[in-house]
Amino acid sequence: MRQISLTGIKPTGDLHIGNFFGAMRPALQLAESYEARYFIADYHALNSVKDAAELRTHIRAVAAGWLAAGLDPDKVIFYRQSAVPETFELSTLLMAFTAKGLMNRAHAYKASVQANLDKQDDPDSGVNMGLFTYPVLMAADILLFDTDIVPVGKDQVQHVEMAQDIAQAINFNYKAELLRVPQAQMRENFAVIPGLDGRKMSKSYGNTIPLFVPEKQLRKTIMRIVTNSQAVDEVKDPEGCQVFALYTLFATPAEQDSLAARYRAGGMGWGEAKEALFQAVNRELSPLRQRYEAILADPAGLDAILARGALKARAIAGATIGRLRAAIGMD
Ligand code: ADP
Ligand code: TRP
Repeated sequence: MRQISLTGIKPTGDLHIGNFFGAMRPALQLAESYEARYFIADYHALNSVKDAAELRTHIRAVAAGWLAAGLDPDKVIFYRQSAVPETFELSTLLMAFTAKGLMNRAHAYKASVQANLDKQDDPDSGVNMGLFTYPVLMAADILLFDTDIVPVGKDQVQHVEMAQDIAQAINFNYKAELLRVPQAQMRENFAVIPGLDGRKMSKSYGNTIPLFVPEKQLRKTIMRIVTNSQAVDEVKDPEGCQVFALYTLFATPAEQDSLAARYRAGGMGWGEAKEALFQAVNRELSPLRQRYEAILADPAGLDAILARGALKARAIAGATIGRLRAAIGMD
């Protein structure tokens, strides 16, 4: 049997090129040789998106994004997390094997606590139990499907390691390989795509280049990339420049060499470098954008694709739950 690749994306905002290179494209490449199971992590989004219309919109947008990026729902099991209730049964089961201390160490939770402390606020302010137990739900997503590898960006590696710990605790307790122990797969080159301000591109930092915005807005966004104050005639260094770093994602090696030479020759202003970046990004993203618009124009079709995927997912999930219930004495 082929190995299994699984990943999820939270529908909390517009997809951006960090998601595309860090998670979606590697996942779609893996779908060529692995059995792939990709999903919309909508219950994860609920921790932060509390408006129904907004959540609904984000769910469809992320689903359409996957399809526009090339996911073939006949080859990949493609579904919404909330349509697979076995996830939540597994999550409850995993809770009993998850040390609270493990959750205390999760980066996302720690970052929220630290942000509160920095503001001299109560450390638990705005921290819901969904955020605190996030890694358990994510472990359930992964372990439910006998996952071998999880293609993710760097920020998610710790969560996959926690899923390993939890699976091992269960296997150890019942002295059986009840749950397959997953591995994170991170592409070093694409582990952290920089955002407009040079920090990790992230919805939470508001520094993203969205994948599917109209051309005009794409250009405007790219022009907002923060650069240093070097004048036009100064010689520039492509190393450590985020305009160039982003360019390498979209341009051919020959185009990269030629832009690097222009940096080193002097006489090129930042506006010109950004224009070259815009051209390269737009060339790659415009066909995706067209597919995306077409998919979103047919929400019923999109929902039907997700519903078909959920049926396939539930068949697998039901078998995992059955196996576990028998092992723990709840059959
Ligand atoms: P965000 O940080 O914008 O909220 P998500 O947490 O929804 O993004 O990430 C979805 C997937 O995309 C995850 O696998 C994550 O690791 C990956 N990802 C997000 N931002 C980046 C980035 N800047 N570079 C590489 N991968 C990223
Ligand atoms: N936590 C991931 C993120 O923020 C989304 C996610 C939820 C996920 N469940 C998953 C990723 C399972 C991989 C596997 O991006």
